Amino acid sequence: MKKRTSILSLAFTSLLAAALIAGCGTGNQPQAGAGQEQPAGQEQAAGQEGQAGEKKTLIMATSADYKPYEYHDLTSGKDEIVGFDIDIANYIAKELGYEIQITDMDFGGLVPALQTNRADFVMAGMTPTPDRQKNVDFSDIYYEAKNTIVSKKDSNLTKPEQLAGKKIAVQLGSIQEEAAKELEKTVQGLQVTSLNKLGEIVEEVKTGRVDAAIIEDTVAKGFVASNPTLQFTTIESNETNGSAIAFPKGSPHVEKFNEVIKKMQENGEMDKLIQKWFAQ
Ligand code: ARG
Repeated sequence: MKKRTSILSLAFTSLLAAALIAGCGTGNQPQAGAGQEQPAGQEQAAGQEGQAGEKKTLIMATSADYKPYEYHDLTSGKDEIVGFDIDIANYIAKELGYEIQITDMDFGGLVPALQTNRADFVMAGMTPTPDRQKNVDFSDIYYEAKNTIVSKKDSNLTKPEQLAGKKIAVQLGSIQEEAAKELEKTVQGLQVTSLNKLGEIVEEVKTGRVDAAIIEDTVAKGFVASNPTLQFTTIESNETNGSAIAFPKGSPHVEKFNEVIKKMQENGEMDKLIQKWFAQ
């Protein structure tokens, strides 16, 4: 609290200073514009200091390689990040009176972005694991997925034990990477390659540079649908990977976000979005 106050007053002071230096007019500039070149922490502070009626801005970090959770949509002629997570984020923001600014990065950079306050929250189909919980806070789970093996249709690679002596690709920093590292202990000769983007991983399987990939069913389904030479098979396990929203440790937003998630589950909005993005 103490720290925040000082950041706020610092932001306010520098705003005043900027107005003085630049002369008349500057003080009336919209702050969101000014904030765009600033790191998230400062921008948030600037946003909260905003004049009455002005929307506050939250920075959402994501890894937009995860259709249908979040991906780059180019169909309208411009590059837009869309998806299930984006719709949920927008709904929550609207309910709570925030503007959202999305920043796209590699999945492995998301938790560090929260730890250094470069983002106010992360939505990236991210699973709350005990390890991550040491570094960030999570909302309640809003959707679930299971791991699958994605391979070439003719490969006969559908079960973990068939991966002996094979190469597999997983996303860097994901729980699929963890699962692969775990498999390495029991599956002889398994070689794991970690890559930044889901698209690269699928490409590696398609070209045969790796034999298979571990990808969540919710995402594998779409990749396989658009790549007819591929197949995916769910890995038998009692485990499901929930998706939750991640926040910097001690973030004041967790509770409010949870309230809106609950509301969306009760008023049918969540089901509507699940239908929109996952039913094919
Ligand atoms: N649920 C998995 C995890 O938390 C994978 C999420 C990958 N998300 C993404 N946007 N690429 O590790």
